[in-house]
Amino acid sequence: MHTNRFTRIGFILAAAGSAVGLGNIWKFPYITGENGGGVFVLIYLATVVFIGMSVFIGEVLLGSNAHKDAVSTFETLSPKKYKYWKYSGFTFLTGVLILSFYAVVVGWIFHYVVVAATALPSSVQEAENHFMNLLQKDIGTQIFYYTLAFFVIAYTISRGVKKGIETLNNILMPTLIVILAILLIYSVQLEGFSKALSFMFSPDFDKFDSSSLILAVGHAFFTLSLGMVTIVTYAASLDKGVNIVKASITIVIMDTLIAIVSGLIIFSILFSAGQEPGKGAGLVFITLPAVFFEMGSMGIFLAVAFFTALAFAAVTSAVSVLEPTVMYLVERKKMKRKKATYSVALIFYVVGLFALLSNTTEFSSFLTFGSKNVFDWFDFISAAILMPLGGILVAIFVGYIMDKEVSRKALVPHIGENLYQVWLFIMRFVAPLAIFLVMLNEMGVIQF
Ligand code: PHE
Repeated sequence: MHTNRFTRIGFILAAAGSAVGLGNIWKFPYITGENGGGVFVLIYLATVVFIGMSVFIGEVLLGSNAHKDAVSTFETLSPKKYKYWKYSGFTFLTGVLILSFYAVVVGWIFHYVVVAATALPSSVQEAENHFMNLLQKDIGTQIFYYTLAFFVIAYTISRGVKKGIETLNNILMPTLIVILAILLIYSVQLEGFSKALSFMFSPDFDKFDSSSLILAVGHAFFTLSLGMVTIVTYAASLDKGVNIVKASITIVIMDTLIAIVSGLIIFSILFSAGQEPGKGAGLVFITLPAVFFEMGSMGIFLAVAFFTALAFAAVTSAVSVLEPTVMYLVERKKMKRKKATYSVALIFYVVGLFALLSNTTEFSSFLTFGSKNVFDWFDFISAAILMPLGGILVAIFVGYIMDKEVSRKALVPHIGENLYQVWLFIMRFVAPLAIFLVMLNEMGVIQF
């Protein structure tokens, strides 16, 4: 056995750790709320099953075949005349943009664990003031928690795949699942639970519009950490002989279940307190803390549990964004892991500071370009352009460029010839087209 590789269960927890993040516990509930519930959930589930899962299997296939950093993976697996395909490995650079705003949010969450334990806001108005004050004025607090977030992330990566990433996920992921299970058991007893169930699962087709479809495809990619070689890189550290289809399906199911459970928890609590779901991004940082306050000491316990779960989910994702670049420097540039980690982390950290400062009143005017500040630009460029681009590259590479024997040999023994053909069809036609439409829509070229 290779000493610095994941075990099977270690890989499943780490890849699930990457997938389960802000996308599941923060974003999924609020976009579900904004998009009317049931229909959106249904479309989301369909895209995860039909497109997300296939591309996920594609990324695991690439990594576990080459056992190399992402650039070398594309290089090794492309036929001679297509050598320039190795450059698609550079999609790991998307990580710089993602991590720089993701870590800012991780910092907010760390702060909210403390707020939950010590001083929950007593009304929605107060909660809004607190959150806005943190974002716009309290630069010191933000930088403190942001720096802390970076230390945790960089320390983990510096210890390597097994001692760092696997250990972190082996502890945080089961704990996260236990916390969510406790919160779910609590929510089931609330009067708002049945309303939450019907809000999420009874589709009202009048509310269907094609923009939810595009949103669902984009979110399926984001939540499964696809399109920026994160999964390729994790799979590169997977021991040989693992059934990659079974592992991928397990991870996708875990990711989807956790999104749904988080939605049920949040909506049950919200509906029981008579609040509305369509409040947007402030749902978790504004509405929820105020509702927790109303519940007295039980609320404090729930709030600490909830923000701790969110922190764990976000940290395991943030770690996975850093690994592709570090692995590249270690393998291709022969840098020591510690040095590679801390140099890359420092660059990510500095870039992220601009995102952080761009939300503050003091610096926003210097850090706003056109219609968006730096924070929103990073979010937009990565979600609208770079991640979809990475997704298309993987789908096209696996579907057209790479020798079919590689994928056939890896997949047919597990899924049979017929399902293999379905998978190939999705990689060649459905996924690239769907991702392309997402891209055009997010860039505003077409509007559904
Ligand atoms: N999947 C993570 C989430 O849902 C985000 C992420 C995207 C992580 C890309 C790594 C790579 O929060």
